Amino acid sequence: MSGIKLDNLGDWKRQCSCAALRETDIDKEINLMGWVHTRRDHGGVIFIDLRDREGITQVVFNPEWDKDCHEKARNLKPEYVIAIQGKVRLRPEGMANPKIPTGKIEVMANELKILNKSKVPPIAIEDNINVGEELRLRYRYLDLRRPQMQHNLSLRHRVYQTIRSELSGMGFLEIETPFLTKSTPEGARDYLVPSRLNPGNFYALPQSPQIFKQILMVSGYDRYFQIVKCFRDEDLRADRQPEFTQLDMEMSFVDRKDIMGIIERLLKLIFSLGKGIKFDRPFPCLTYREAIDRFGLDAPDIRFGMELTDISGLVADSGFKIFAQTVAKGGHVKGINAKGAAIMSRTELDGLLEKIRPFGAQGLAWIKIASGELQSPIKKFFTQSQLDSILKRMGGEEGDVLLFVADRPKIVAESLGRLRLILGRRLDLIPRDRLAFVWVTDFPMFEFDEEMGRYVAMHHPFTSPADEDIELLEHAPDRVRAMSYDIVLNGQEIGGGSIRIHRSDLQKRVFDCLSIKPSDARKKFGFLLDALEYGAPPHGGIALGLDRLLAILAGADSIREVIAFPKTQKAVCLMTGAPSEPDHAQLKELHLRTDLVLRAKKHEEPAKSPHSDEGQDEGRP
Ligand code: AMO
Ligand code: AMP
Repeated sequence: MSGIKLDNLGDWKRQCSCAALRETDIDKEINLMGWVHTRRDHGGVIFIDLRDREGITQVVFNPEWDKDCHEKARNLKPEYVIAIQGKVRLRPEGMANPKIPTGKIEVMANELKILNKSKVPPIAIEDNINVGEELRLRYRYLDLRRPQMQHNLSLRHRVYQTIRSELSGMGFLEIETPFLTKSTPEGARDYLVPSRLNPGNFYALPQSPQIFKQILMVSGYDRYFQIVKCFRDEDLRADRQPEFTQLDMEMSFVDRKDIMGIIERLLKLIFSLGKGIKFDRPFPCLTYREAIDRFGLDAPDIRFGMELTDISGLVADSGFKIFAQTVAKGGHVKGINAKGAAIMSRTELDGLLEKIRPFGAQGLAWIKIASGELQSPIKKFFTQSQLDSILKRMGGEEGDVLLFVADRPKIVAESLGRLRLILGRRLDLIPRDRLAFVWVTDFPMFEFDEEMGRYVAMHHPFTSPADEDIELLEHAPDRVRAMSYDIVLNGQEIGGGSIRIHRSDLQKRVFDCLSIKPSDARKKFGFLLDALEYGAPPHGGIALGLDRLLAILAGADSIREVIAFPKTQKAVCLMTGAPSEPDHAQLKELHLRTDLVLRAKKHEEPAKSPHSDEGQDEGRP
């Protein structure tokens, strides 16, 4: 690498991108700048594929045109940054490359500036590379040069522009809310930031702008939106990052249909932009109850069938004790019919149990219908007429496998819901090119948290109960439905929102149901309770998870593929090395001391840097 003299840019001006030139530009004198993608030497003539964000142009150096320039070009290596001057010409007969937009032309270089050198890149600057994600994230600046990443980020940009222009057209104002703020509960842990000027006090980074956007409604800003970072310290997966982006919205004087209508319009626009796909509106709607009963999960993938069937009534009196006793104890026995699953061996079927054990399933019974007979470990416990009724209710036919779980309703639903997805993929039943949106509405207001021994808000504590359920708040909180709604796409929750509580008396009652003491409520949310006393209009809103939306739009397996600088599953940035240990002086200034025991231990064992990371997750959950 040594020995090459680098040039200054001087007064050279880039005249177009490396994807711009066409046959209509023939004979033009042109200046191009970019990165050397490849260099090929052909008997004295050197061909460079010059690359920038937009594409590639072939540049030719011929010693007969300019000897010095050609000599200089012999030094070029991949990822060198160069500027060239030359004349556009038609590629010679038979040399056109129909695969790229500039494939009919090339540029005959007569001047070359080498602006910078490059080490040999540890990853190839091309798509479909076979390297671990760790390397890609460590060298993200190189990874982002790859066409796929450039496509994803430019798609992201276009989606943002569409959202901004569409929403401002509808009268929404984009308003920023603070990052250094107080905790806004969305069910995760907060990221805390110490305050130097207020020793011992911390800001919380917002889990969402929820409270601020409600306050904006109190202030009369009617239609608000923001494309905003949210921060949540939670366990990470392919579809979760510690900082992620929401399209956050709030509106006054609306009901949920208004909000859903606006979101459908926006999604339709975004998706026609990304993939040119059109789909019908309004989107189908399921209540939470229906979603759980039919699909087992509150974010159902409705692109395929295999819905859950309740057979509790059919097996309550059967000789299979596990089923009969489960029903007697108020549990459920449900099944799914995996069409065509008879191709799966007994071992594979038995192995499925391990996949649903994490959701609480203790057993998985199955009946295989193959070669005109039933094969099943549990067949012997049932009469022929019981078997006939089960088959009839579940539509069992030759080639099918019926799978059953008996347990508490929650375990049955979740286990079979997950199993349905596993089998849908295994049996290739999910059409990949289909987009299936569905609204899930009427979530329960509260769910009982066994660990905490109290009710917690299923959405967040500012969600309004359904008008007709308000009277149940105190004596039957588990029957109260919320005025909330999630938007689900292909089995992924891409957004959620609700109509809010706009009266402080009702807000206090809901805090009470959540066992939040009035003094705590005042300490945490006093400003909201106060604001609600000054003419708060009825209001509601929603937030879309833009990273998830974009990942689906881009056909990516993980939201990391649509985020420029994502973090790993351990919330580490492999490129910058964040998070890192602050130096002592910094800590002192912030009036902080880290846990001495931890530090001492760290010194005993050779410290394991969080950056010597790490197996990424296995794809979408
Ligand atoms: P919610 O918590 O449902 O609602 O968040 C809205 C959407 O944000 C996305 N999302 C995430 N994306 C990536 N990484 C994460 N860690 C992550 N967490 C959530 C999801 C989710 O649907 N304030 C309410 C909205 C409202 O009521 O208006 C809220 O934040 O796609
Ligand atoms: P066992 O008598 O425990 O060997 O169980 C007989 C069959 O019933 C096995 O195929 C088990 O997987 C299945 N089984 C056991 N418990 C359950 C359950 N809770 N739900 C569904 N199937 C079960």
